[in-house]
Amino acid sequence: TAEPQVLVHADKQALADAAAARLVAALQEAQSRSPEAQVALTGGSMGSAIIASVVRLPERTAVDWQRVRVWWGDERYLPAGDPDRNDTQNDEAGLLELGLDPAKVHRVAGPDTSGSAEESAEAYARSIREHGQGGWDVVLFGVGPDGHVASLFPHHPAQRVTDAIAVAVHDSPKPPPDRVSLTFECFERSRQVWFLVSGADKAEAVAAAQAPGADRWEVPAAGPRGSEATLWLLDEPAASGLGDE
Ligand code: 6PG
Repeated sequence: TAEPQVLVHADKQALADAAAARLVAALQEAQSRSPEAQVALTGGSMGSAIIASVVRLPERTAVDWQRVRVWWGDERYLPAGDPDRNDTQNDEAGLLELGLDPAKVHRVAGPDTSGSAEESAEAYARSIREHGQGGWDVVLFGVGPDGHVASLFPHHPAQRVTDAIAVAVHDSPKPPPDRVSLTFECFERSRQVWFLVSGADKAEAVAAAQAPGADRWEVPAAGPRGSEATLWLLDEPAASGLGDE
């Protein structure tokens, strides 16, 4: 596993644009290696900002979007189309304008089509086993001010699940309380892991996650690593807690 790299951009827009360009390049590269590129997207405001930037980027046409499989690292357990779902927010940012095959956009079932978050997590895990080709080319993570990634929160038992690749998460400290998340076990199969973080309220979490010996139980963002690269894509306020090296 390569050492994490930190790249700092002036502000959130510059960060989203840089991440979008990097994503387009990574997907092209993945497609030169395997029939399908596998990407796990993130929710939150950063996740949507990146999709919006990809949609505007002229180079996006270099990707064969029909050969991209899209997943989410986590989803809020709400009915399809709910404005608070991560996929709905990514859709609103223009995800489907990219020319993806809708059958390869893997959405987490909500309470409208599944009996429980547990059932939904199991179904998502089955899809990953069937179509995930054993790993992710790129995983995008937003990071919360408490250091959470996906729906893996500090001191939350979902973090400790090692016998499943997707889990139901209840009592999430960030609303809504019910979610489905991929597990650390699942994120371990990633070539590239990118943390996308904007804002001064995240500076402490960013510094804590990168501190030597950081413990993912306390700061979940200290957990996921890519086998090829782990990148911290930050804006200046989010980077303000890191020492100058
Ligand atoms: C969510 C995401 C969560 C998010 C972080 C950062 O449900 O919102 O799963 O992990 O990525 O909380 O969110 P922002 O980018 O909005 O700060």
